[in-house]
Amino acid sequence: MTIDPIVRFKELLGQAERLGIKPFNAAAFATTGKDLQPTVRMLLLKDVDERGFVFYTNLQSRKGRQLDENSRASACFWWAPLKRQVRVEGSVEIVSDREADEYFASRPRGSQIGAWASQQSSALSSRDELLVAADALSAEYRDRTVPRPPFWSGYRLLPERIEFWKEQPDRLHERELYMRHENGWKVTLLAP
Ligand SMILES: Cc1cc2nc3c(=O)[nH]c(=O)nc-3n(C[C@H](O)[C@H](O)[C@H](O)COP(=O)(O)O)c2cc1C
Repeated sequence: MTIDPIVRFKELLGQAERLGIKPFNAAAFATTGKDLQPTVRMLLLKDVDERGFVFYTNLQSRKGRQLDENSRASACFWWAPLKRQVRVEGSVEIVSDREADEYFASRPRGSQIGAWASQQSSALSSRDELLVAADALSAEYRDRTVPRPPFWSGYRLLPERIEFWKEQPDRLHERELYMRHENGWKVTLLAP
């Protein structure tokens, strides 16, 4: 099987969406800062092409600070009804301002305000602190386009390894590992 892994991934993602899996684009996204403590959280995949897998977030969040220290990351997708898992490993880059602006502009206004209001992963003295900040920002931007916060953008995970896992009877699952190789991909079958 030499088909491009990004093409394969997009086919799976399309199947998950057509089956009505919600959310069909969720991934566990793992990072590790210089303290070497692995951390993982769910993120939504917002774009994927030959360059990589794009996730949007606050650049000053815990994950953002870790990625500043260590650009290596992993994502793991699982679609239970499809009995499929996909794992991706590589390093990240920040998407272009134009890409981030376009995606931010497409978001609902409430999410745009929320991105400004939340200093993601910092301590809050109360929930009210957040809600009051969101109200004040709503008033500030009334009748105006909400610009993208400078601390909010996307990370593109540039894949070096992509593994496709498919459930099979008797735990004899299929695992196909694609490793980035000069100008293409090398495929290896792995024992389950
Ligand atoms: C299904 C799901 C999807 C999520 N998608 C995102 C996302 O796309 N971007 C984001 O910043 N946080 C998202 N979150 C929240 C993150 O899991 C996490 O709480 C947040 O990014 C802070 O993580 P950090 O402290 O490790 O930086 C999502 C949570 C869930 C449960």
